[in-house]
Amino acid sequence: MKTDGELIQMAFKQKEKAYAPYSDFHVGAIVEMEDGSLYGGSNIENASYGATRCAEQVAILKAVEDGKRQIKRIAIAADADDVYPCGICRQIIREFGQNARILIGNHKTRYREHTLEELLPHSFGPSDLEVDENV
Ligand code: THU
Repeated sequence: MKTDGELIQMAFKQKEKAYAPYSDFHVGAIVEMEDGSLYGGSNIENASYGATRCAEQVAILKAVEDGKRQIKRIAIAADADDVYPCGICRQIIREFGQNARILIGNHKTRYREHTLEELLPHSFGPSDLEVDENV
């Protein structure tokens, strides 16, 4: 199993794959799923800006499409310090990682850890629609 620091390092590396010609703001994310598998994502922008996908979304959607449903950890790193997931990403983490450990990279060696409850309190999720939680 990777240490938290190693996961952050991987997220920093992953951001090199970003397609971000408009913002030039490169973000990388690594998700670790419940079975220990790892998926990486980086932000993919679009000339029609609203079609841009964040790094976290790319990583999570790759995992889910591969049949994984439960996020254990997610590490996020960007070209700036303390880049927190946007609102939509928090909601997507909510769907598959209600109990995930969320690691926000900072200067390659330091990181902050949060719970989803801290970042998205009183959230709306599968149980509100009487669907089993992905936990
Ligand atoms: N972005 C992410 O990929 N993740 C975040 O947590 C924050 C924002 C991307 C979206 C866009 O490509 C660029 O950063 C600037 O908003």
